[in-house]
Amino acid sequence: MNKLVVLNHPLIDHKMTRIRDKHTGTKEFREAVSEVGGLITYEITRDFTTVKKMIETPICETVGYELEKQIVIVPILRAGLGMVEGIHNIIPTAKIGHVGLYRDEVSLEPQVYYSKFPDIIKDSVVLVVDPMLATGGSAAKAIEIVKSTGATDIRYVGLVGCPEGVKRIHAEHPEVPIYLAAMDSHLNENGYIVPGLGDCGDRLFGTK
Ligand code: URA
Repeated sequence: MNKLVVLNHPLIDHKMTRIRDKHTGTKEFREAVSEVGGLITYEITRDFTTVKKMIETPICETVGYELEKQIVIVPILRAGLGMVEGIHNIIPTAKIGHVGLYRDEVSLEPQVYYSKFPDIIKDSVVLVVDPMLATGGSAAKAIEIVKSTGATDIRYVGLVGCPEGVKRIHAEHPEVPIYLAAMDSHLNENGYIVPGLGDCGDRLFGTK
């Protein structure tokens, strides 16, 4: 399938500019990352199926609609946490799982140190969330772990991607669509996305 959706919306461009600016402080950065998470959610959910449900308005009976499938949000620790609140505000019934990864110093491959998912994950739409799609190594590993639960409808959600990361997800998980707020030029020699926004985790949590 190899689907890539880069959101094209003035509000997202405006907020991404605040996020990218190195003079933006921790509070505003954190708020804007969460808000963009919420805005992206509209696009991710566009093809969600609904089931009819009869309800009564104060005036009469009428047909309404409910989401058919449950939603599970899976942030990759720790930067993924920054987008969760914004997504959860839009889909408050979603459950939240977590994946924690670290990079093995010898193999340089991501290793799992933590994973916890709700039981319903297998039959749910799963949103794997990580703001920066850089090499794609962590995202590919997190998707692999989510797949091992039996989940089949998995979508990747991020803020900024680059060709290297998109290529890797498309190669390893071609059926997983990628939703991004922006697509940047390339990775530099230190593994940062250019122009990017710096280290997202550090900027979210004020660790630098
Ligand atoms: N992770 C980040 O936080 N920033 C990058 O540019 C790449 C990976």
